[in-house]
Amino acid sequence: YGTQAINEQGHLTIGGTDSVELAKEYGTPLYVYDIQLFRDRAKAFQKTFEDEGIGYQVAYASKAFSSIAIYQVAAEENLSLDVVSAGELYTAIKSGFPKEKIHFHGNNKSKAELRMAFEEEIGCIVVDNFYEIELLKDLSEQLKKPMNILLRVTPGIEAHTHDYITTGQEDSKFGFDLNNGQTDRAFEETYQHEFLNVLGLHCHIGSQIFDTAAFRLAAEKLVGRMAEWKKEYGYECSVLNLGGGFGIRYTAEDEPLEPSVYVKEMIQVVKQTSAAADFAIPEIWIEPGRSLVGDAGTTLYTIGSMKEVPGIRKYAAVDGGMSDNIRPALYEAKYSSMIANKAHETATEQYTIAGKCCESGDKLIEQAELPVAEPGDILSIFCTGAYGYSMASNYNRIARPAVIFAENGDHQLVVKRETNDDLIMNDMSYKKQVKS
Ligand code: LLP
Repeated sequence: YGTQAINEQGHLTIGGTDSVELAKEYGTPLYVYDIQLFRDRAKAFQKTFEDEGIGYQVAYASKAFSSIAIYQVAAEENLSLDVVSAGELYTAIKSGFPKEKIHFHGNNKSKAELRMAFEEEIGCIVVDNFYEIELLKDLSEQLKKPMNILLRVTPGIEAHTHDYITTGQEDSKFGFDLNNGQTDRAFEETYQHEFLNVLGLHCHIGSQIFDTAAFRLAAEKLVGRMAEWKKEYGYECSVLNLGGGFGIRYTAEDEPLEPSVYVKEMIQVVKQTSAAADFAIPEIWIEPGRSLVGDAGTTLYTIGSMKEVPGIRKYAAVDGGMSDNIRPALYEAKYSSMIANKAHETATEQYTIAGKCCESGDKLIEQAELPVAEPGDILSIFCTGAYGYSMASNYNRIARPAVIFAENGDHQLVVKRETNDDLIMNDMSYKKQVKS
């Protein structure tokens, strides 16, 4: 993946730095991001839009990995930013991210969160439901401040990894239904509002998607609807946001497309549909999360205890687990791995990589193909950059790992390892009150 290689010592290197040295210096578990790869992915998306000569925004869906440092790199790469909570918004603002390029998502944004968005004058709010429309009207009138909005719709297309299904009505907690009048009503309720500026439509049809059919269909449906509104109301929407969801390669079985392929096909459909409906080609916005940070991230662990269940399997336990990567336990997600200090050695064994949490389901990889392993080896698990650290927890009061960025032979700590004191930081003691 990316700038990963093997050096003369037979060690895995990431961003030109020796992963075994990183493990020594920072301890394990450790998240290491190959930042050049993040930059390259961002540029690949952007370049495709530029080559096709179409207005665009590529917003980093920061739920995949949110931290001050990644927001700073996203800003350097001219990305926009998708945030979904006051916490992500706060982090973005603290990082100095350009506010006008922040898009705020969520199916139940609180009044306080929306107020923060107005006060910070962010770029746009992706409106999810009728309750939110009312909150936005009240707030904007009260604050006398304008706000760009996109209407999030569920288009009745559910994309799975390899295929998609269309349904008349999608059973989703997100967005306005496109097929039963909800979306039209949401538009009618907002497009003439004094302070709300309807830019267009948004949809997000799934995650880890491997083909373009569902994106093409979504683009066609949404452009079609915006063109109808132009005819009916004389109002021209100028933005189509097709969300994220572009797949990445976790294991050899995954066969994602190049970022440019997804984007090219979207553009083609948007151009065709717009021309056929006599509608001005809208800007296309996308929101990749996983495909920007997923394969840029590697987790380094130290192997500790090992156990053999004769005739069944060998376990190798690492010093983290579902507390730093819940995806295997939650989604049966698959990963590939390597022993970072034995990167030259041939894989002759199979080990089930177990975590250290008190749950039998805390396994990171079933039957990983590895060379002979022993306690003290550094195990690297690849492609953990998206929804790994961001979904980490303190289950079993395990401290969250440190995160470092490696680039051009340099490495820098960007999120400190939690300490035991961090773990009890918000705890208060309790004393039973004796009533007289
Ligand atoms: N935009 C919206 C509105 C989204 O809901 C999401 C992801 C994205 C963009 C980014 O999608 P991506 O490009 O990363 O696929 N925790 C799960 C993934 C949840 C995705 C939620 N929404 C996992 O670990 O696989």
